[in-house]
Amino acid sequence: MDIEARIKELKKDKDAVILAHYYVDGRVQEVADYVGDSYYLSKIASETPNKVIVFCGVLFMAESAKVLSPEKTVLMPDKVADCPMAHMAKVEDIASIREKYDDLAVVCYINSTTEIKANSDVCVTSSNAEKVIKKLPQKNIYFIPDSNLGRYLSSLIPDKNFILNGGYCHVHNNVIAKDVKDKKAKYPNSKLLAHPECTKEVLDMADYVGSTSGIIEYVANSQDNSFIICTEEGVLYKLKKENPDIEFILINNKQVCPDMKRVTIDKLVKCLEAMDNQISVDEEVGAKAFLALEKMLELAR
Ligand code: 13P
Ligand code: SF4
Repeated sequence: MDIEARIKELKKDKDAVILAHYYVDGRVQEVADYVGDSYYLSKIASETPNKVIVFCGVLFMAESAKVLSPEKTVLMPDKVADCPMAHMAKVEDIASIREKYDDLAVVCYINSTTEIKANSDVCVTSSNAEKVIKKLPQKNIYFIPDSNLGRYLSSLIPDKNFILNGGYCHVHNNVIAKDVKDKKAKYPNSKLLAHPECTKEVLDMADYVGSTSGIIEYVANSQDNSFIICTEEGVLYKLKKENPDIEFILINNKQVCPDMKRVTIDKLVKCLEAMDNQISVDEEVGAKAFLALEKMLELAR
């Protein structure tokens, strides 16, 4: 039996659903029941009837699934797959900012630890952050941990006062503006699509800024036939599959998230077979983080 057939069999036996982020390997995306960006996958995790959720992504995603569905068993093919940015905010800093401002909302990007979520008022993802923040009554927004996304949002919502903390995604931050400029000069007829985790200099050059799903949708609705892609290279799997005649150009070969690449089909089958790498979250912390995630789901509707 091939590995794909074995996974299908195991999914049925264990009553498992497989969720995969667009940045993981194409073979894993192929066996997944749902493939999407962080927002879409968190919605699925909160609604799925299956007993077991296998999260093919990084730790904060699997922990969010466990927080949203604490009664379910949540597994990861590789628990070492962790997002460095998720650890770039500190609970002590939240406490001191709360003391400084009374009209404040602590808004944490879903790419953060469960503890940071538990100390925040609401979570956001790159696809719903603008909508969610616009609905908040507070004037001051402590946006953690991604400063690039926070800075971009502050330009879209100028009536709010954004306080940032200096966190960043090393993959998107490494898309260097000079390299982007060079690519634009080489491919003058290409549209430049960028994820908001990229720097301001890169976003200023983009024809479209949006989440991973936003980028995929933009291409689907566009008449153009060449795109320069400023995000993690895993998105090309879906883009090329759906648009075989369109040209996609990366800026360089560093657009690779090493943590997302830890997720392989071999590890996926092993974790399902052994029901290995189960995610656990402290009950009290999880209950508080649930409120921030639930508020996101409610305001993003
Ligand atoms: P989205 O899935 O919201 O586009 O976020 C990208 C990302 O870097 C996930 O880790
Ligand atoms: Fe984290 Fe960036 Fe990797 Fe996403 S791409 S998991 S934000 S390091």
